[in-house]
Amino acid sequence: MTEHNLTGKVALIQGGSRGIGAAIVKRLAAQGATVAFTYVSSDAKARELQDSVIAEGGKALAIKADSADAEAILHAVSSTVETFGRIDILVNNAGVLAMAPLDEFKLEDFDRTLAVNVRSVFIATQAAARHMGEGGRVINIGSTNAERMPFAGGAPYAMSKSALVGLTKGLARDLGPKGITVNNVQPGPVDTDMNPATSDFADSLIGLMASGRYGRVEEIASFVAYLAGPEAGYITGASLTIDGGFSA
Ligand SMILES: NC(=O)c1ccc[n+]([C@@H]2O[C@H](COP(=O)([O-])OP(=O)(O)OC[C@H]3O[C@@H](n4cnc5c(N)ncnc54)[C@H](OP(=O)(O)O)[C@@H]3O)[C@@H](O)[C@H]2O)c1
Repeated sequence: MTEHNLTGKVALIQGGSRGIGAAIVKRLAAQGATVAFTYVSSDAKARELQDSVIAEGGKALAIKADSADAEAILHAVSSTVETFGRIDILVNNAGVLAMAPLDEFKLEDFDRTLAVNVRSVFIATQAAARHMGEGGRVINIGSTNAERMPFAGGAPYAMSKSALVGLTKGLARDLGPKGITVNNVQPGPVDTDMNPATSDFADSLIGLMASGRYGRVEEIASFVAYLAGPEAGYITGASLTIDGGFSA
């Protein structure tokens, strides 16, 4: 097999069956990493992605694990280590977007937003870091909405992504002495099931972007792959925005 810059590395991606997460799975695998990834409901898509990585000559493992459930996250980390022996790269991509007028926003949606978008990042990082050594990488997927929230109805989502800015800084301090970097990638609007580029909502966002277009999942995955690689060892504690000028 050809050597790539992530050959020999083992990555675990929380929320890898669709959208940005699936693009990250494919990109890290294409650069030589062995990839384990979680999902919560898309059994067929997860299986298809696992099989496609294996068909390309890579190693992959799809794990059903709800990021709102601490036990399920710990199981995903231990399954990865049992199957592949280690974890070098953790990507915390699983996320949910609940939107409703303030008056109608349900407390259960607020709690699930925090559980999936924030609490899962802490739980997975705490567990995975025990298996990581020098050169380890933790990459969170935040959002440009941490800094600019130009629409109503998504306050808990914006709050959850702002929380990742502080969580990333603190975890970078915790893990710096072990030679592990922790960063937060903040995409702008990217064409996925969560935020399709063809919706009426999309039209309202496109005018706010310097680039005048939605991002592609591959444009986020390539940035994540750079952060996961050996050349990015001096970047840590950073929230890095990749949003086509949404916040410019
Ligand atoms: N798209 C955007 O415009 C945009 C912009 C900024 C930030 N982001 C962030 O980027 C990340 C990915 O977004 P996306 O647009 O790719 O979303 P998506 O198309 O809805 O895909 C979400 C992925 O996360 C998984 N997931 C969701 N909830 C989960 C849970 N409780 N446990 C485990 N896995 C779970 C899903 O698994 P299943 O397939 O099993 O449901 C799926 O693989 C999120 O953190 C999102 O907030 C997105």
